[in-house]
Amino acid sequence: MVVWITGASSGLGLATAKALRAAGHTVIAGARSFREETGADGILRLPLDVTSEDSVREFAAKAQALSPRVDALIQCAGILVLGPCEVTSAEEYRRVMDTDFLGMVRMNRAALPLMRAQGGGRIVLFSSINGLLGIPCQSAYTAAKHAVEGYAECLQMETRRFGIQVCLVEPGDHRSGSQHTRHHAAAMDEASPYWADYRSATHVIDRDERGGSDPDRLGRKVARVLARRRMPVRLRIASPDQHLAVFLHDLLPPGLNGLILRKYYFGKE
Ligand SMILES: NC(=O)c1ccc[n+]([C@@H]2O[C@H](COP(=O)([O-])OP(=O)(O)OC[C@H]3O[C@@H](n4cnc5c(N)ncnc54)[C@H](OP(=O)(O)O)[C@@H]3O)[C@@H](O)[C@H]2O)c1
Repeated sequence: MVVWITGASSGLGLATAKALRAAGHTVIAGARSFREETGADGILRLPLDVTSEDSVREFAAKAQALSPRVDALIQCAGILVLGPCEVTSAEEYRRVMDTDFLGMVRMNRAALPLMRAQGGGRIVLFSSINGLLGIPCQSAYTAAKHAVEGYAECLQMETRRFGIQVCLVEPGDHRSGSQHTRHHAAAMDEASPYWADYRSATHVIDRDERGGSDPDRLGRKVARVLARRRMPVRLRIASPDQHLAVFLHDLLPPGLNGLILRKYYFGKE
């Protein structure tokens, strides 16, 4: 298979690109920090900024010059801005939506005509447990991942007749190292009335990610699922307690669910 993959310079995207290459696929990987080169690992790297229409167009053209087919598109590019809703600026929301949601829209619009013309393809969109429930101080990311979830359901129905399969990957916490690259709302400081809750929530978020699952294992799982005749519409790759959190979110009254999550992230009521 010829696979395009975004956000492949680190974390889950890099782990998935490596697993796909190890499985024998042609992997054309994009990220902002890439120069155009073929690495010693056999991964073909191209610069890509999913927030720019021009960059997406250039990536697609160069990828097609390397190989005219695109059998699969895997979208891992993502950023995170931490901050309470009141403190996070509209510009910070826009940046997250532009990368995590509209970036996927742009890449899909580049790949879909090629997939239709060749009679089919596979699209894998990296959502998150945050696409299924809200987590305090991650509202921009949560909103973007909820958008991805709804969008993917529409995409899946619309493209099925063209032989295109769509799969949402919903990871729980993984040790991707992204805690070193995540952003904080610029206006957040110690004077904020949200400071104590914010400190507590970001501590829990960091702790959970540091103690999270192995990215390479996720990469291998995504590679295995991509090779199946039929991909699942949703693939949740999470710890038992994160599966439980989603189950309870759907089962419990919202007030009770909010109480449990506030206690977990803020440590008090
Ligand atoms: N780690 C987890 O626990 C976890 C849990 C649930 C879901 N996820 C999802 O999994 C995906 C990967 O997350 P991660 O934790 O592996 O994050 P990460 O290590 O921070 O990687 C993010 C990747 O996105 C790329 N990127 C960021 N902005 C971009 C842009 N404008 N254009 C192109 N590439 C861009 C980065 O490369 P450059 O900076 O070089 O562009 C990097 O390769 C994300 O969609 C995330 O939401 C992760």
